[in-house]
Amino acid sequence: MAAPPPPHEIIIVPAPGQPGREELRQQCYDVRIDVFHHEQGFPLDTEVDDLDDTATHFLLRLTPSLKPIGTIRCAKMDGYYKLSRLAVLKDYRKYRFGRALVQSLHDFVKVDAKTPGSRVSDTVKVACHSQIPVKGFYGK
Ligand SMILES: CC(C)(COP(=O)(O)OP(=O)(O)OC[C@H]1O[C@@H](n2cnc3c(N)ncnc32)[C@H](O)[C@@H]1OP(=O)(O)O)[C@@H](O)C(=O)NCCC(=O)NCCS
Repeated sequence: MAAPPPPHEIIIVPAPGQPGREELRQQCYDVRIDVFHHEQGFPLDTEVDDLDDTATHFLLRLTPSLKPIGTIRCAKMDGYYKLSRLAVLKDYRKYRFGRALVQSLHDFVKVDAKTPGSRVSDTVKVACHSQIPVKGFYGK
């Protein structure tokens, strides 16, 4: 049997303008840089893009240490939501944390799409920005 996951929590980084956003969003960036730049070799200067300012960021961290180990981002587009920048640090993979982050994003979307003024119809569409080798993960 696989080892149980270490104690953890997934938090939503405060919205733009709210206290704590910058520090927690930086922790999301640090995980992304570790995975996409250092591990996968993508350029550092494209890691943060113009969606990051308004996106909803999710941070996975260990408890009680609060060490950041994973992240995902949800951007509200015109009529749909875009999932991107999913990353879990190498040492913490295969604990179903990737799945938990996608589930947290889905839970958020279900609530957000119902808020008054949301430009999203009854059927909520989440588009996934994915690398080809990870297609199997998203399929599950
Ligand atoms: C992709 C990633 C987030 C998955 O995180 P993880 O915590 O290891 O994944 P999970 O344990 O939640 O996996 C859930 C399921 O998907 C499967 N899976 C995980 N990674 C997979 C992959 N690359 N290809 C196919 N299936 C995969 C798991 O086996 C598991 O299947 P199961 O439920 O039948 O046991 C992680 O590998 C990662 O950060 N990779 C590098 C960054 C990256 O590629 N991000 C995606 C960019 S589009």
